[in-house]
Amino acid sequence: MVSVLATNLCGIPIRNPIVAAAGTAGYGPEIAEVVPATRFGAITTKSITPEGRDGNPPWRVTDLPAGMLNAIGLANLGLDRFMAEVVPELGDLDTVMIGSIAGHRVEDYHEVAAAFADDAASVLRIVELNVSCPNTDTGRQFGDDAGLLHELVSSTVPALQGRPVLVKLSPGSADPLGLARVALDAGATGLTLCNTMPAMAIDPETRRSRIGRMSGGLSGPAVHPMVVRIIHDVRTGLQESHPGTPIIGLGGVSSWSDAAEMLLVGADAVGVGTGLFIDPRTPAKLVRGLEKWVRRQKVDSIGDLVGAFES
Ligand SMILES: Cc1cc2nc3c(=O)[nH]c(=O)nc-3n(C[C@H](O)[C@H](O)[C@H](O)COP(=O)(O)O)c2cc1C
Repeated sequence: MVSVLATNLCGIPIRNPIVAAAGTAGYGPEIAEVVPATRFGAITTKSITPEGRDGNPPWRVTDLPAGMLNAIGLANLGLDRFMAEVVPELGDLDTVMIGSIAGHRVEDYHEVAAAFADDAASVLRIVELNVSCPNTDTGRQFGDDAGLLHELVSSTVPALQGRPVLVKLSPGSADPLGLARVALDAGATGLTLCNTMPAMAIDPETRRSRIGRMSGGLSGPAVHPMVVRIIHDVRTGLQESHPGTPIIGLGGVSSWSDAAEMLLVGADAVGVGTGLFIDPRTPAKLVRGLEKWVRRQKVDSIGDLVGAFES
């Protein structure tokens, strides 16, 4: 029997709309040790840069009343080790894998994209370009500037040789719709909305930042309503010019109703990051809750509820 949650992302069938968010599930095998990969429609890898990175000094993560502030700083093994040590293991995970790319220069994205396009990395069915990391010095430069974003996306997409490309934007940009249009006109297949929100938290006793960097990225429940609004505005704004653009909604999802809100305003799939840290059972709870919701709504499949928000 076909599940009511079966859907597709960028034309690729996924068993449910739940996607593990970049950087919150290791490279994929780590989360699969805790949560079966089959609970996810897709799993996104940590963002990969050409060089291995140690990331920022501690503390890299702090809990806040309504979410989590992180300044991981794109710590990762680097491209060569990722390709040699991790990619061969990814085929064992019974889910769609999304490879995430980050970099400081356009050439960094090209280098990682060329490796991901190789047959050896065909397990990375979809590629996400992280242009919105708030916790490195250059992490947001491409996602904040329409000209740079166009240059980056239009030159990286060909290097991926037909692999679908999602561009991940920041919830802090002044004009997410404008940047979404730029990314799509430059050849992106779809969008991931959103990364963490640039934010600060200060310890009044030490008068210093609560994390090892002045500011970082806020995730979790605090960002959810902001991201729902962004998905709504971007989906509505793209209706004429780019209908059917694949969108992953991402930010503060920890219950089925958080996920349902994102689907209703037009997300095709829903990412979960901080929710995995709060409770590793989150994906299973989301799946159960969404299945019941689809039935209560008396529709045949979750896809019938995408964009079904009545304003
Ligand atoms: C600890 C941590 C590490 C992250 N690392 C990455 C990363 O490597 N690449 C990326 O694109 N986003 C990264 N993110 C952002 C998440 O993928 C996601 O966009 C954000 O956390 C919002 O979703 P959430 O509220 O469900 O966590 C990271 C977030 C956290 C909390």
